[in-house]
Amino acid sequence: MVDAAHVKDVRLTADENETITRVGPGTPMGELMRRYWQPVLSSSELPEPDCAPVRVRILGEDLVAFRDTSGRIGLLTEFCAHRRTSLWLGRNEEDGLRCVFHGWKYDITGQCVDMPNVLPEYDFKERVTVRAYPTQELGGVIWAYMGWGVAKGKQPPPPNFEWTRQPESHLHVSRSLQECNWLQALEAGIDSIHTSFLHRRFGGNRPGLAGIRAQATAARLEVRLAPYGYAYASSRPMSEGKGDYVRTYHYVMPFHQIRAIQGETEDSAVRKFKIAGHMWVPVDDHNCMVWNWYYSLDLPLDDDERDEGFWGNGPRFVDAQNGFRSFLNKGNDWGIDREVQKHETFSGIEGVNQQDRAVQEAMGPIVDRSHEHLSHTDMAVFAARRLLLDAIQTVADGGAPPGADESYYDIRAIEKLLPTDADWMEELKDQMYPKGGPDLASAPALGRQE
Ligand SMILES: [Fe+2]
Repeated sequence: MVDAAHVKDVRLTADENETITRVGPGTPMGELMRRYWQPVLSSSELPEPDCAPVRVRILGEDLVAFRDTSGRIGLLTEFCAHRRTSLWLGRNEEDGLRCVFHGWKYDITGQCVDMPNVLPEYDFKERVTVRAYPTQELGGVIWAYMGWGVAKGKQPPPPNFEWTRQPESHLHVSRSLQECNWLQALEAGIDSIHTSFLHRRFGGNRPGLAGIRAQATAARLEVRLAPYGYAYASSRPMSEGKGDYVRTYHYVMPFHQIRAIQGETEDSAVRKFKIAGHMWVPVDDHNCMVWNWYYSLDLPLDDDERDEGFWGNGPRFVDAQNGFRSFLNKGNDWGIDREVQKHETFSGIEGVNQQDRAVQEAMGPIVDRSHEHLSHTDMAVFAARRLLLDAIQTVADGGAPPGADESYYDIRAIEKLLPTDADWMEELKDQMYPKGGPDLASAPALGRQE
């Protein structure tokens, strides 16, 4: 059991920091990561059979994706087995990707199926392959399983999150590149209390629960371990005995968050039941792709809800033609405006996720966690690190990675005003686990002050 009094003892060592952040092939975390499905592209980036191939960099590997004549997705090592030029330059034709250098052609399994530069007696195409990773499309996203060696073929069941099962009319998905290690982005994203500071506006805050969140600055954090990772809640005491504003979340191994946003629409004319989340996917050790998704369980999303200007995402902020890099980035100080910071917003930076990118990138490419001083509200951050380090060991010992199963398929995140000291899990579990779920009421709790 860990509580705030012990957080100084849970600071990572420099060695642990290396272990938990590096994701290249053969690294301990890289091996764990490769046991889960990775979102690599939007389906719309490969819009039709035989369309242009697309480069993908993920977990420190350079890959090329294409949709073949039959509509199937291929995800191959980027470089031709022959003389190693990029297959991204290739011709996507007749169920294969053909290298423009000498015409060697590969199907979606990575098998070389044509070697037209040699006479038949010198042809050895049957013995030539490039690495190919299995893929699937779910929720308008192309997912890859990159397990290799002993992990090859051990892919978990599909990443069938509730959001991936929504019709297009009810679902919005976007992404942006972030120029820092994936873990510090994830940690900042699962940190509930930062929203009350980093994202605060002076006066004229947003309506409903989102506004309440921005006003109350201190919170009690509690984490309940679950088969997929953990459920957690931040409780912000309200003034005048009005109870607690409780926001719940899920952390799903290895880099998913599900968070409540019902309060965003609380005061609008049309109430919608919406849920949101992120995925912080390692591009390499120094870059990550942050995927954003939200969906409505009742009415379809409208244009306003798909406009991501408020969030600092979408075409005004993110350059889809340049690897989804933000126009505002470390090179131009994220556009910080000191006048705005004095009078209008806490950060002086426009856009919620742009604010997130700034504080996360400003830590440097890989933050050195051995110099931190964690506090009570870092409970979720601490718990994620512990789970990841334990899972690295489990996989290194030949065990099955936690959460590579179906335990997260039907989980939801809820926010609500609750009576002070109510047990949020007791109060909300029927909504958080609408199809039933693990008995988290008795699960180990981190951070509860008994
Ligand atoms: Fe944030």
